[in-house]
Amino acid sequence: MGPGAGELGRLLLTVVLTLPTRPAGSWGARIIGGHEVTPHSRPYMVSVKFEGQHHCGGFLLRAHWVVSAAHCFSHRDPRTGLVVLGAHILHAPELTQQVFGISALIRHPDYQPATHANDICLLKLNRSAVLGPAVGLLKLPQRGARPLKAGARCQVAGWGSISDFEDLPPGLMEAEVRVLGLDICNSSWRGQLSPGMLCTQSGDRRRRGFCSADSGGPLVCRNRAHGLVSFSGLWCGDPKTPDVYTQVSAFVSWIWDVVRGPRPSPLPKTTRSLQESPEPQQHWVYKRDGKRFK
Ligand SMILES: *[C@@H]1O[C@H](CO)[C@@H](O)[C@H](O)[C@H]1NC(C)=O
Ligand SMILES: *[C@@H]1O[C@H](CO)[C@@H](O)[C@H](O)[C@H]1NC(C)=O
Repeated sequence: MGPGAGELGRLLLTVVLTLPTRPAGSWGARIIGGHEVTPHSRPYMVSVKFEGQHHCGGFLLRAHWVVSAAHCFSHRDPRTGLVVLGAHILHAPELTQQVFGISALIRHPDYQPATHANDICLLKLNRSAVLGPAVGLLKLPQRGARPLKAGARCQVAGWGSISDFEDLPPGLMEAEVRVLGLDICNSSWRGQLSPGMLCTQSGDRRRRGFCSADSGGPLVCRNRAHGLVSFSGLWCGDPKTPDVYTQVSAFVSWIWDVVRGPRPSPLPKTTRSLQESPEPQQHWVYKRDGKRFK
């Protein structure tokens, strides 16, 4: 379950002064209602770390390229980030792990922090990943493929937050979820959703989905990355505020343009624009009325 009330104060991401009360465990900082994956069964899973701590997820698209969420890098200098591949238990000295620096961060040019529209970025690794049993690629949806139907089965995976060292997930966690129609989801979110988003629900009465530090990780449907963890409500797994992902199929052309295109502009420029961003934190959690908390 989530961290207890005493531990909440130590959570990096919960500087929430405006909240009246929270039910215990509502900030469960990991995949909700999920289970531990078979080690290395999702070899494309990436952990983006800052200051030695897991910060966000992502997936490996090419040996040099990782796809993640743009909001993961709000007020973070990508030059200080590390990308870990081949992990199952992040803090363990696993021989399968490969660690990289980030040589370029390319955020979607239309990313809007206030609405989370176009919440996607690409990370260029500072050297090539060595592919093998524990490190592999994940495919994008096919260009022009029809959008997923409501009810389609997908899985979301992540390491959740390890900013609370006493509440580590045993290893990479995953949860089975169902695609929720965007219209219904948009109503639940009171019309705040933009095109290029995708929602999921548990599909039954249990709470299942992602939580804060799963951000950037892939929603995998039929072995392709259809979503990137973007935002959800104040209560992780709450069906009243369904989980919202970046709909990857809407960005396939942009992704390939970047990956196959000319060399990205060097990091210092990107970094400067990041630092000018008005967004003070990385993990936005939305309340139903659209107020944001960090
Ligand atoms: C890549 O970045 C990592 C982490 O900063 C560093 O240890 C490594 O030396 C770098 N490798 C190359 C080839 O630049
Ligand atoms: C969500 O609803 C609002 C208000 O009706 C509408 O303006 C917006 O376009 C909708 N978003 C999507 C993705 O349909």
